[in-house]
Amino acid sequence: MKEALVSTFKSLNPTNLSDVVVETKLATADDIADAARRAKAAQKAWAKMPAPARGRVIANAGRLFENNKEALSKLVTREMGKVYREALGDVQEVIDTCDFFLGEGRRLYGQTVPSEMPNKNLFTFRMPVGTALIITAGNFPAAVPSWYIIPALLTGNSVVWKPSEYTPAVAEAMTAIFHAAGVPKDVLITVVAEGKETFEGMVKGLDEGTINKVGFTGSTEVGRLIGAKVGEYIQSACLELGGKNPMIIMPDADLELALDGALFAGFGTAGQRCTSLGTLWVHDSVYDKFLKMYADKVASSKVGDPMQDVLFGPMIGEKYLATHEENLKLIQPHHTVLGSTGIGRITKDNPREGFVGDPDAGVFAHPTIVAGITKDDELYDTETFGPLVTVGRFSTIEEAIELGNDHGFGLSAAIYTSDPKAVWTFREGISAGMLSINNSTSGAEAHLPFGGNGKSGNGSRQSGIWVLDVFTRWQSLNWDWSGKLQKAQMDNEEVPHNPDFKI
Ligand code: UN1
Repeated sequence: MKEALVSTFKSLNPTNLSDVVVETKLATADDIADAARRAKAAQKAWAKMPAPARGRVIANAGRLFENNKEALSKLVTREMGKVYREALGDVQEVIDTCDFFLGEGRRLYGQTVPSEMPNKNLFTFRMPVGTALIITAGNFPAAVPSWYIIPALLTGNSVVWKPSEYTPAVAEAMTAIFHAAGVPKDVLITVVAEGKETFEGMVKGLDEGTINKVGFTGSTEVGRLIGAKVGEYIQSACLELGGKNPMIIMPDADLELALDGALFAGFGTAGQRCTSLGTLWVHDSVYDKFLKMYADKVASSKVGDPMQDVLFGPMIGEKYLATHEENLKLIQPHHTVLGSTGIGRITKDNPREGFVGDPDAGVFAHPTIVAGITKDDELYDTETFGPLVTVGRFSTIEEAIELGNDHGFGLSAAIYTSDPKAVWTFREGISAGMLSINNSTSGAEAHLPFGGNGKSGNGSRQSGIWVLDVFTRWQSLNWDWSGKLQKAQMDNEEVPHNPDFKI
């Protein structure tokens, strides 16, 4: 008998590619469909468990994540390369999400609503959607999946989780924690697969009715395909897509503060956050000064080993570096390139001054500032997802807002100013889902609605109370105890009144 072909994926430490973190068997479309069948079969019993009891399970998970915070954070850094301090933040966001939702188990409120009829009561209930397929990216391997998984479970859904194939070890550790916390094995099933197989598996599950909700964090291009397919099944996906997040520096900004924000927003996680800074729009009057401050700061920041005190570590993996290198080709002769001693991959032959560690061992990229960006440039509306920040100028707030909106993305946006009028003009005019005043474009807290508009998302929101609408549907109930048929809108009592009355 012939053995079935099994393909595997080697997850490599991007700081040191000779360190194989784990070799994982890749799931096929059939494996995903099978997982969805099992998860669907397990969902009913899970939904039957009282919500406060599910909340206890989330509480257990939160404690386990807390007890394993350092080990899991080290694994995050080892597997996808963000600096350890940021990895601790990534895991902390899981703990924060558990903290928020364990209480939701005791709330999960419906409403009692007055009826227009006597002796009749109206109610609303939140119903779980069923089984959710959650597809997540490698840049936040702990936090972002938890934004889906925790509320989905709390509200009585089962989950099939397809993490990034770049972070299977983190996914395995997280899944083990959820199971140890009391989540039944089939209520959360994790499958590692490539995009094509995932999509086919999703279609099978949609066909069979075993996938009732899809959550996807990733590129706009793939989100569009998923959203369209899911729409054919009269479902709406929760899509958290790319961004080209603007940061506006007004003439009255505290430039030192803005500098810290632009540094972290642009180059934290090597620019691979959905909320990373895309373009820095600087007012004419401070453009030259601020650009110099930024270029000097970036040039003198440490890059390298993410376990050391550096601005950023490696790219998530070789594929991410390749995309970054493609984006560098969009730089035009009218642009000025700043920020490092080279562009592209950092190697012994293309060195970065002050690099911490051995650049040839991993997939490191030079930080790159591309100044002189205009609306006509391809870089203006390309999400670069790497250590590349574009910088342009503006003369009025209205112009800055237009520049911040017109690429069609709308995830996050920031402004640095001390003028309340500018703040409120920005608030009203900018189309992004998440705004920051005198703060970075990244760094959203775990209990505020997270999500974007336009090419960044279809309006669903994760986190806090807002994500409850993703994983539940409202069921309304009316209970007439009058003993007769009372027809709404028809059998209502008229209140005697005098419509012609005047004093
Ligand atoms: C993401 O990049 O997909 O706001 C998530 C932030 C983090 C989460 C980012 N709390 O930057």
